[in-house]
Order: sequence, then structure tokens, then C-alpha cells
Amino acid sequence: MTPATVTPTVPAPTPGGAPADAAPGTGTRVLPPLRIGPLTIDTPVVLAPMAGVTNAAFRRLCRESGAGLYVAEMVTSRALVERGEESMRIISHEPDEKPRSVQVYGVDPATVAAAVRLIASEDRADHVDLNFGCPVPKVTRRGGGAVLPWKRDLFRSIISAAVDAASPYGVPVTVKMRKGIDDDHLTYLEAGLVAQEVGVAAVALHARTAADYYSGTADWESIARLKEAVTDIPVLGNGDIWSAEDALAMVAQTGCDGVVVGRGCQGRPWLFADLAAAFAGSDERRRPGLGEVTAVVRRHAELMIEHFGEESKALREMRKHMAWYLKGYVVGGELRAKLGLVSTLTELDERLGALDLDQPYPGEAAEGQRGRAGSPKRPTLPEGWLASRELSEDFRRALHEAELSVSGG
Ligand SMILES: Cc1cc2nc3c(=O)[nH]c(=O)nc-3n(C[C@H](O)[C@H](O)[C@H](O)COP(=O)(O)O)c2cc1C
Repeated sequence: MTPATVTPTVPAPTPGGAPADAAPGTGTRVLPPLRIGPLTIDTPVVLAPMAGVTNAAFRRLCRESGAGLYVAEMVTSRALVERGEESMRIISHEPDEKPRSVQVYGVDPATVAAAVRLIASEDRADHVDLNFGCPVPKVTRRGGGAVLPWKRDLFRSIISAAVDAASPYGVPVTVKMRKGIDDDHLTYLEAGLVAQEVGVAAVALHARTAADYYSGTADWESIARLKEAVTDIPVLGNGDIWSAEDALAMVAQTGCDGVVVGRGCQGRPWLFADLAAAFAGSDERRRPGLGEVTAVVRRHAELMIEHFGEESKALREMRKHMAWYLKGYVVGGELRAKLGLVSTLTELDERLGALDLDQPYPGEAAEGQRGRAGSPKRPTLPEGWLASRELSEDFRRALHEAELSVSGG
């Protein structure tokens, strides 16, 4: 991993965000380093937090390929304050991981503050991201996740409580959000300005509403609008970056200060090599043949065993990664299905060994969209949620239950 260092000679950014002489493929870097409070991220690329994916094992593979900031899986503030075993594992980092980045989800300002204080005062991370992006019905039904910023008093209290808890320790707090509830109830511009006002160090926008879920195409235009509105802190763009070229296109189209990449690197941690090259102005791209891919799968499995300390749990967790790793390669239905059912490292070795390891990179078939997709869903909201932008006592009580049922964004 390239450490987070200051690079002294960086072209001055234009008002739109990109340096005047940025020219992809010519060896000129595309953006200046990303500054998140006291942290300097040399390559302005962030691995999106993904529950069930971005644990220490997967982050290591991404870090080894590229450069950037790699956010851990989300943890709920309440579980963290209770020091649950799984929560403590989620926020743990390998000794060489710098900066250490975690994401907290919470609905109650005091609990979020306590969780952030635990992280910062015990030196468990260098960066805390707050999650306001979850579109899952069981969360939005109670007013949590992507529909929470609609209650502007609550949103402001949560983020300022987090900033107040973290700032004595010099730990920057960022916000990750969606555009709003649906196209008629957008919150991102106002939320971005509130975040800037209370001392949040950067904002990231997944350019979809809760109603969009993961459907359609991310609305990069909204990232451009957020960048125009929020001028004092970095604005990061998120949504539908499947390749380094997409990342460059997002920067060019929106003027964002950095990109957040999620599904595009599922089964493709080497995308971070492409991203590092692209942002450094190089055309170099990784195009692994199947032999190379299986070597990464094997290593991922080993790292997962180290992470979970248990072979069966680790291999069970590996199953979902198989389809992502093998997308576009000729594998055969039966073997593909068997790889999705591995239980031991020996089984994994046998099944990987049965593949045609000389198979070259398949091109387009391995590219484009991967991972979660689906159709729009009208968000389930608490009764009367839209009637007011302020939080009533009844909603406050229901929200606590929202935190108990959350699992990812
Ligand atoms: C499996 C999965 C788990 C996710 N978990 C989280 C999470 O814990 N926190 C969060 O803020 N977003 C989460 N997200 C959303 C991503 O961080 C990201 O915003 C979204 O996938 C859009 O980016 P992409 O188009 O690059 O994938 C998750 C997404 C997926 C696919």
C-alpha cells in the first residue's frame, strides 16, 4: 500500500476540482491528494464500506493492489458501545493498515458519540465515517438509514455529537449518504451543508435515493450539484464505478475530489491497481487470466481464515465471493456451483485446480456491473414521517429499534 503521505508537487486544482493540466494516460496526476481532516490520501480513491465484504482480509487484498482509503464494514453504535465480539472484530485492523478507517451506523446522538469516543480515545481508528445510506426496508420503516436526514434536527445532532466526540483526539469524521428518500424528497444538498457547518471532514454521496435502491444508473449530476454547494470540504462521488475509466469519467463530469468504489471491486481487488494507475495518469491496467484470479481467491481464503480464526466460517464467507471472482471466465455450471459451496481449504484447492488455469482475461465479460442490483422500491417509512422535517417523540422511540435491525447499506 502507498502510505498516506503528502505529495508536494501537485498541479493547482481548477474550480471544478480537476487540475488544469490533468490528462489521463499522459503520466500527469488527475487529482491532488485527498485531505480528510489531518489525513492525506495520496490517491483520492476510497473502498466503500460493504457489510460482509470489506473486512481486514479483503482490505488487505485491495491495499496490496493499490492506494487509497479502505473503509471497514459498518458497525452499529449500540453494538460497539456494548463491545460485542463481532463489532470489535469489525473495527480491528492489521498492524500495517494506515490510515485505519471504520464506519458507524447510529440513530441516537448520545450512543453515536459514545461509540465514536470509544474508537477515538482508545486509538482504534484514524477515521470514522457515519452511514446515512442504508435503504433496507426494515431500517427505513423505522426512520433509520437513508431516510434519516429528512429529520434535519436529528441528523444535525448525530453528526455534531460524533464530531465533538472525535475532535479532541484529532480523528476526522465523514458522512456517507444517499440523495434522499425519493426524487420528491431530496436531502443531500442540505445535509452536505449541515455536515460542512458542524465540522465534518468530507461528504460522500451515493448518487441514488433510497427509492432507487440499487436500480438504474447512479445520477452523477447530483454529485456535481453537491460539489457546487459544498465548497469547504472534499466531496466524494459514489455509484456505478466499474472500471478506472468510470472513475476518471466521474471526476471529469462532477468535479468531485475523490471517488468511492463499492461493487466494482467485489471479486476484483486488483481494480485498485487500475485506479492508482489511472489517477497517476497511466494507462496501465490489470487484465488477469484465470490462473492469476485463482491465486487471489486462494490468498483471500487464507486471509479470511486468519481473520475469523476458523476455517469453516472463513470458507462459508468465501462462497459469495466466488461468483464475483469468476465473472466472465469459462468455468462450467457444475464447477461454478461446487465452488459456491466450498467448506474447507482442501476442497477449494481441488475445485480451483480443476479449472483451466491457462485461460486468458476474457475482456468485456469480466467487466461492467456486478454485485447487488435490483429494481426500485418505494421506501417503507414510519407513518407520518414526511409530514414534518423535525423529529417527534414517538419517532424517537421507534428509531432505537431501527438500529437493532440494521446490517449494511
Ligand atoms: C454488499 C454490500 C454491502 C454494503 N454495506 C454498506 C455499509 O455497510 N455501509 C454503507 O455505507 N454502504 C454500504 N453499501 C453501499 C456501498 O458502500 C456503496 O455506497 C454502493 O454499493 C454504491 O457504490 P457502487 O456502485 O460503487 O457499488 C453496501 C453495498 C453492498 C453491495
